Amino acid sequence: MRKPVIAGNWKMYKTLGDAVDTALALKPLVANANHCEVVIAPVFTALKTVSDRLEGSNIKVSGQNCSTEKSEGAHTGEVAAFMLRDVGAKYVIVGHSERRQLYSETDSTVSFKTQAALASGLIVIVCVGESLAQREQGIAENVVSSQLNGGLSGLTAPDLDRIILAYEPVWAIGTGRTATPEQAQEMHAFIRRVFAERHSSGAAEALRILYGGSVKPDNIVGLMSQPDIDGALVGGASLQAESFAKIVNYKS
Ligand code: PGA
Repeated sequence: MRKPVIAGNWKMYKTLGDAVDTALALKPLVANANHCEVVIAPVFTALKTVSDRLEGSNIKVSGQNCSTEKSEGAHTGEVAAFMLRDVGAKYVIVGHSERRQLYSETDSTVSFKTQAALASGLIVIVCVGESLAQREQGIAENVVSSQLNGGLSGLTAPDLDRIILAYEPVWAIGTGRTATPEQAQEMHAFIRRVFAERHSSGAAEALRILYGGSVKPDNIVGLMSQPDIDGALVGGASLQAESFAKIVNYKS
């Protein structure tokens, strides 16, 4: 049985005070959510404080990005994966479409970041997904499989249980336009097949694949009812504790 993961990506929102307030408001609202792992990803500057204030709770903290470098060095403006771990993060998101589109990250960057994150002991949420133009051209699966091949190159069997994939069609992110549960299911099943071919059917069976893109309290149940959807990566609707808690508590 794959344990679902519901992760909130706070992007570049919230001061330290706002991040702490939201995290503390969330804590009692999801305290009984044993059916899934609950993760929030605040900005770097709030990670340590939020993680300290959530100590002992069932909410884990994630970075939103990390350096391609495994060790410290002269890399102005970068934050290494082991530094995220050092301040209490358990997860890191890599290859988000905003990083790919706005900061020119390539599959090779994603691969280096994934390797650095794994080396530091973090669980890595690797994002993939096609643009609207690519979907309309009928090449969505080709795009996703080449992102998987490039971004996950060099993984060895012991790494696989610390990899989570997030399928986030770019056309659904922040647009209010969600993939239908069937569209998402189709791509998730495809990703699982690609993973099985690359690794093993056992590893593919155990792989958690999250859906991301305009996930809201009113569409989470339909998405989670699909057999290959194992959780969600939530942007906008994770910024308020109440709406994120409704998504986390989709079962009740
Ligand atoms: P959204 O963002 O839920 O606001 O569409 C999802 C994401 O970017 O991870």
